[in-house]
Amino acid sequence: MSPMLLLLLLLSLLGPALAWLPVEDWESGNVTSSGGGLECLCSVFLPDSNFPVNRVQHMQQITSDLKREVEIQINKMVSYDTKLEVYLEKLMDLTVRVAMMDSSPDDYIKLDFELLRIELREFEALVSQLRDSLNASSPALDSLFTEIHNMTLIVNQLETFDKKNLEVIRIEFLKLQRKLKECQEGQEYFKPDIGNCNNTGIVTVSKPTLIQINAHLNAGYQYGGWGKDSKPVRGHESMYWYGAYSSPSVFEFYLYSSYDKLIQRSSFTHHGLPQGYEGSGNNYIVHGNAVYFQASNPFRMSKLNLTSSVYTHRQMTKASETYTYVYSPKQYLDFSADEKGLWVLYSTEEANGKIVAAKIDEKSFAVEDEWTTNAFKPLVGNAFMACGVMYATRPGDLNTEEIYYSYDTRTGEEKQMSVYFQKFQDSFVNLHYNPTDQKLYMYNKGYYVSYNLRFGEE
Ligand SMILES: *[C@@H]1O[C@H](CO)[C@@H](O)[C@H](O)[C@H]1NC(C)=O
Ligand SMILES: *[C@@H]1O[C@H](CO)[C@@H](O)[C@H](O)[C@H]1NC(C)=O
Ligand SMILES: *[C@@H]1O[C@H](CO)[C@@H](O)[C@H](O)[C@H]1NC(C)=O
Ligand SMILES: *[C@@H]1O[C@H](CO)[C@@H](O)[C@H](O)[C@H]1NC(C)=O
Ligand SMILES: *[C@@H]1O[C@H](CO)[C@@H](O)[C@H](O)[C@H]1NC(C)=O
Repeated sequence: MSPMLLLLLLLSLLGPALAWLPVEDWESGNVTSSGGGLECLCSVFLPDSNFPVNRVQHMQQITSDLKREVEIQINKMVSYDTKLEVYLEKLMDLTVRVAMMDSSPDDYIKLDFELLRIELREFEALVSQLRDSLNASSPALDSLFTEIHNMTLIVNQLETFDKKNLEVIRIEFLKLQRKLKECQEGQEYFKPDIGNCNNTGIVTVSKPTLIQINAHLNAGYQYGGWGKDSKPVRGHESMYWYGAYSSPSVFEFYLYSSYDKLIQRSSFTHHGLPQGYEGSGNNYIVHGNAVYFQASNPFRMSKLNLTSSVYTHRQMTKASETYTYVYSPKQYLDFSADEKGLWVLYSTEEANGKIVAAKIDEKSFAVEDEWTTNAFKPLVGNAFMACGVMYATRPGDLNTEEIYYSYDTRTGEEKQMSVYFQKFQDSFVNLHYNPTDQKLYMYNKGYYVSYNLRFGEE
């Protein structure tokens, strides 16, 4: 396994010059800056498969070997037609273009792989022609055949790298770069006051402060969640968690002892849900060293105690299995934690799909109180609790989400509001608040995204 590429992109570094990182820097695995402020640190993980410099070099080597070999073979022949010269020129051209890949990734991306393959087929024909002319089996020519075959394989591999990784990463980088530039703006403005709920509610959501692909390095794992234990137990003070899959089913959770371990994808433990205990909906959280999630069959709320590995379940007879959020199916139970404790948000048939915020008593794992809001769940992107207030979001455009509604369970007061924030990708399945750092955590279609919040002063 090649070393993970962790690129720590400091905003001070992010000028237009960083539109593309030189291959050498990718290889070293670290891009950091010593100068400038550190207000806004953003991390990006790249898939394990680095830019295949060694393969390009190998291909260059083969190309020049081929060229030499063909020249030798041609010199052996008494006569040859001009077609061979054309082939030789093409071969030279190919060498130059392969060399270009190495020096300029932009050109590399533009490289026409189909053309490369056609040219390789022409070489094959040429070698075959040479062999016929010589009218003898030649180990040199047999080896040429093998080399051409190998080169075709390499070209195919390079193409996979291009399509699957490099191009995508490059586009993501450009997107990221744009967003990071804006990220620094107003970081000073977000000063958390942990535990203090003497405020008038959320007034601003920052630009995304972290954007990173999930620990599976798989953008296809669009259904999942990530975050930090919202009431950590001793010994796990900054425990992070992650789980995802390619469908809304929930099978497993990974736990990380710190933020650094999370971004290094180095979990200290992993819990696979036993058969029959699987979940769905992806609106789980970790609170007090326990995972709270929606079990599928039978439908109920479940708790996985990470200390004891014991599962506890509660039927939710009132919670409807009809209404889900905008972006994902089966989101019936949405767990949330704030300064007041643990909550679950769901809708009921009785409330005609309006969201009900229910406070959970952690000891008994039972609903202790509930409030019916006026947020109609099928129009809501996601919802979360902060300081006893339920906030509901709705889709704006592709890159924007709006907190449009709040319900204060302390006063019964509801508010129409309009606080916009940016999404990295159009849809998301898990959005929740964490009272330990007053941040919002979003699982944004395969990516970890987080935001700082600003609350209004009373
Ligand atoms: C990257 O930077 C960190 C922090 O300066 C350092 O500890 C680490 O060894 C570096 N890794 C590489 C691959 O240079
Ligand atoms: C090729 O070799 C075969 C015998 O090995 C011979 O009969 C034939 O005439 C040769 N053809 C040419 C074109 O040299
Ligand atoms: C072609 O590839 C095979 C398998 O990867 C390898 O064993 C062989 O040495 C290669 N041949 C040449 C001429 O590079
Ligand atoms: C919040 O306000 C109340 C009443 O004004 C006050 O007693 C309390 O100390 C305040 N809490 C904080 C954390 O400032
Ligand atoms: C988890 O289990 C431990 C050990 O049995 C217990 O002390 C703790 O209270 C449990 N936590 C939760 C959240 O149920």
